[in-house]
Amino acid sequence: MEKIVSLCKRRGFVFQSSEIYGGLNGFWDYGPMGVELKRNLKDFWWRRHVQERDDIVGMDGSIIMNRSVWQASGHEETFSDPMVDCKTCKSRHRADQLPRKDDSLYCPQCGGHDLTEPRAFNLMFKSYAGPVESEDNMVYLRPETAQAIFVQFKNILETSRQKLPFGIAQIGKAFRNEINPRNFIFRSREFEQMEIEYFCRAEDGLALTDYWLEERLKFYEDIGIPRSKITINDIPDGERAFYSEKTYDLEYEFPFGLSELEGVAYRTNYDLSAHLKHSGKPLEYFDAEKKEKFVPHVVEPSAGVDRTALALICEAYDEEEVSGDKGKTEVRTVLHFHPRMAPIKCGIFPLLKNKPALVAKARAIADSLRPHMNIFYDETSAIGRRYRRQDEIGTPFCVTIDFDTIGENGPELTDTVTLRHRDSMEQERIPIVELRHRLESAIH
Ligand code: GAP
Repeated sequence: MEKIVSLCKRRGFVFQSSEIYGGLNGFWDYGPMGVELKRNLKDFWWRRHVQERDDIVGMDGSIIMNRSVWQASGHEETFSDPMVDCKTCKSRHRADQLPRKDDSLYCPQCGGHDLTEPRAFNLMFKSYAGPVESEDNMVYLRPETAQAIFVQFKNILETSRQKLPFGIAQIGKAFRNEINPRNFIFRSREFEQMEIEYFCRAEDGLALTDYWLEERLKFYEDIGIPRSKITINDIPDGERAFYSEKTYDLEYEFPFGLSELEGVAYRTNYDLSAHLKHSGKPLEYFDAEKKEKFVPHVVEPSAGVDRTALALICEAYDEEEVSGDKGKTEVRTVLHFHPRMAPIKCGIFPLLKNKPALVAKARAIADSLRPHMNIFYDETSAIGRRYRRQDEIGTPFCVTIDFDTIGENGPELTDTVTLRHRDSMEQERIPIVELRHRLESAIH
């Protein structure tokens, strides 16, 4: 993990939030590479699950909603961790994570045994909407994106004219005042979720849960996380939320252990029924053919953007022994990202920066590709070093413009370039006119 955190900082993936002031526990900033990685992930999720299907529509809800939403959903009352305070050093800890010695729990900070009884500590961040900090104006930052989908169910149903089964998808920030933010961006206090609420008839709920498990496994495979690396945890009766009839946790083997990447949960009609009851508004679905009115059930695949980004980095990270200049063995640090996820798709290099004809040609190629993909133009240092720099951020292709390209060695190779492949390090000669198509077919 240390190596990954260090690479993330060194190469502009993830920085500590407000680092120059000592940071803030549980908050992270994404740098130029990290933001591209996350964007590729979110865009592909959206394309796969919203744009390429006709049974799922999107929405973008507000982060702050009427407090009643969280009262109805049960979050105000139950979205909490049991906490104990140490009376000796005044530190606070999760009751279920306290160390134990000789049958007695003790404070992990000072070792003291004088602890309070566990009390529920709500994980929702509070704020106030408006100038007066009163109970009436109190609001929460949403701890999940899902509730905005439930409370807009009727509006979306009416405006999109969908029929069951259909889904509503949303990507957005969520906030949880986690007691113990840890493992880098795995558990933070501000993070992003990608959630689908897939509404259906009660009798289809269980089968659709299996369907969504399969869809999500396919998705992970298509971004470079093979299914062999994901453990499916079928949460047994008694351990699921009381309203859920089936929940699969998808777990990935992170360097700190097997941990949850995503949950696929069959939530029955618990959420819509709760909002129907609390708001008094009709949230039923009317089946015109069968002349039936009922509250739909829902299957929810809920994934974390940050956790998936971390899994992508962990899966891609590699240190390889390769023979460098003059046959000396050296270690190459490389991120084997799927080209679809790679922050930069192609590095464009003129062989020498002091040859105007090479530079002009390389810049022209860069300009022609730029509207179609994220590329990086680099003319500094030796070609080998430029390749290594791109390897470290996971750029799948590099193109070198040399004297053959500009016709100095005869017409045969004029207007061809060297295309170098990150993983095999092999190089091939291809005509410039084929370049865009070759790259696009790999990154789409
Ligand atoms: N709507 C259901 C829901 O929010 P969850 O299991 O609490 O379920 C879903 O969260 C996903 O959100 C998790 O699988 C994880 O990927 C991500 N997530 C939850 N808490 C997180 C945190 N503190 N930091 C980063 N990601 C988190």
